[in-house]
Amino acid sequence: MSAPMPLRRLDDGGTAVLDNAALTALYPRTPAPHLRMNFVTSLDGAVTLDGYSEGLSGEPDKRVFGIMRKVCDALVVGAGTLRHEGYRAVRLDEERRAWRRENGVAEYPVLVVVSRTLTLDPGAPVFTEAPVRPVILTHHAAEAPAGLDKVADVLRHGTEQVDLAAGLAELHVRGLTQLLCEGGPHLFGSLTAADLVDELCLTISPLLTSPDAGRIIAGPVGPPRPMRLAHVLAADDGTLLLRHTRS
Ligand SMILES: NC(=O)c1ccc[n+]([C@@H]2O[C@H](COP(=O)([O-])OP(=O)(O)OC[C@H]3O[C@@H](n4cnc5c(N)ncnc54)[C@H](OP(=O)(O)O)[C@@H]3O)[C@@H](O)[C@H]2O)c1
Repeated sequence: MSAPMPLRRLDDGGTAVLDNAALTALYPRTPAPHLRMNFVTSLDGAVTLDGYSEGLSGEPDKRVFGIMRKVCDALVVGAGTLRHEGYRAVRLDEERRAWRRENGVAEYPVLVVVSRTLTLDPGAPVFTEAPVRPVILTHHAAEAPAGLDKVADVLRHGTEQVDLAAGLAELHVRGLTQLLCEGGPHLFGSLTAADLVDELCLTISPLLTSPDAGRIIAGPVGPPRPMRLAHVLAADDGTLLLRHTRS
């Protein structure tokens, strides 16, 4: 395997290349429950290239993405992104599983899918091949397809809309306090509207694309939410990796 592209921290005047341990320390687990959002965008703010995030995500983004998955208890994703991006069962390589064992974290993160309509296929490998039983977060009026409860825990919060605050609180009670949300934009909008977002990790890829794509947030979001810069990383190819936390 070729060496990873060097990543350096820009905001502290440091010039050192960050190894995996130094990178991991920059995405800490926190004592209190914490929701981290992770997105990639182009320089002009596009959330997709040709309809998918893949074209925006270079090696530095994938590397840090892997670190964020390594340190989380649960990986939260909107059903739209799960279906569109064709999510597979969340597996981690031996190095990341070893880190989790050494740090007292369950070997695999739990996949949590947020869905209003439960348009989900219980036979999909993302469920049937999952190393740990996934969770579906929905509301009481949603009709589940046959067999969904065989492959996932279906948690219901809210009468006709998902009560995200109550849903996340149940995840915390289950011991899933370090949440990594990989989108998509509508879920990010709902979480922002409910003021549940503690952190945004945003990779800016050095690409100019087109105005056709959406942005990282969609739907009603309520008032602007100020965020505070925690760090900026730069890769040799011009990729920037920003981390902002709730101010
Ligand atoms: N650049 C990036 O980092 C990035 C990251 C993620 C996604 N994307 C892109 O974003 C696009 C998808 O955008 P999207 O906004 O449709 O994604 P999304 O938010 O994942 O999907 C919307 C769907 O997710 C469920 N959902 C979202 N918020 C919900 C809420 N508050 N309550 C209940 N269910 C909720 C619903 O599923 P049901 O229909 O099942 O009810 C809804 O129809 C894709 O093109 C994907 O490639 C890009």
